[in-house]
Amino acid sequence: MKKKLIAGNWKMNGSLAANQALMQELLAGLGAPGCEVAVCAPAVYLAQLQELLKGSALLAGAQDVSAHAAGAFTGEISAPMLRDFDVRFAIVGHSERRQYHNETDATVAAKAQQALAAGITPIVCVGETLQEREDDKTEEVVKRQLAAVIHANGHCISEIVVAYEPVWAIGTGKTASPEQAQQVHAVLRKQLKAASASADRIRILYGGSMNAANAATLLAQPDIDGGLIGGASLKAPDFLTIIAAAA
Ligand code: PGA
Repeated sequence: MKKKLIAGNWKMNGSLAANQALMQELLAGLGAPGCEVAVCAPAVYLAQLQELLKGSALLAGAQDVSAHAAGAFTGEISAPMLRDFDVRFAIVGHSERRQYHNETDATVAAKAQQALAAGITPIVCVGETLQEREDDKTEEVVKRQLAAVIHANGHCISEIVVAYEPVWAIGTGKTASPEQAQQVHAVLRKQLKAASASADRIRILYGGSMNAANAATLLAQPDIDGGLIGGASLKAPDFLTIIAAAA
């Protein structure tokens, strides 16, 4: 059986001092986790994370990666650069990047491709806005977003992680109900199965106000293979509770 994955997304939060304190508390309480655990830190702190995580069961992740391999792309960070800091995961296509940085499905697919080429697992985010849900377009939107990544990556698709993050649930305290989430996860699973014979090993995470109180019921759904955790990943006790729920 595939191990669940709990990935923290710190977003644009933290400082050298705050990261050190958070990681100390987290590592002290972690023990031998029964699932895979990662934290996705702002890029400038990946070197610090690499030091802090040495010898631990925790894996490092980035929050974004360039769609290009190298060259004249000022401000961008390539997948091979992330590899230099033992980065194992890179979030791609987070709704905040799609929304505030105009990332298209094609850009997200290219980013996933760059990550895979460097041996980094892309955590491909898909999800509908509140308007799209109200217009009954949830399936159409998430399938379109995932299809772009499938088409660009062919058989390598079995190496990705997918995160279903309904935009209306991110940072709002409004979680999708376990049934709502499972319904979309099942749609994504079916789409992955049609694309790859190894789709069963692809983990589909839920993200959007997952917290210490609701994690267990969400993670109990048959197609929810983990979580992408924003706010609650900044509080060690909460994040540890979610990790325990996934074990
Ligand atoms: P949240 O964020 O847990 O704070 O809702 C999740 C995410 O955006 O990945």
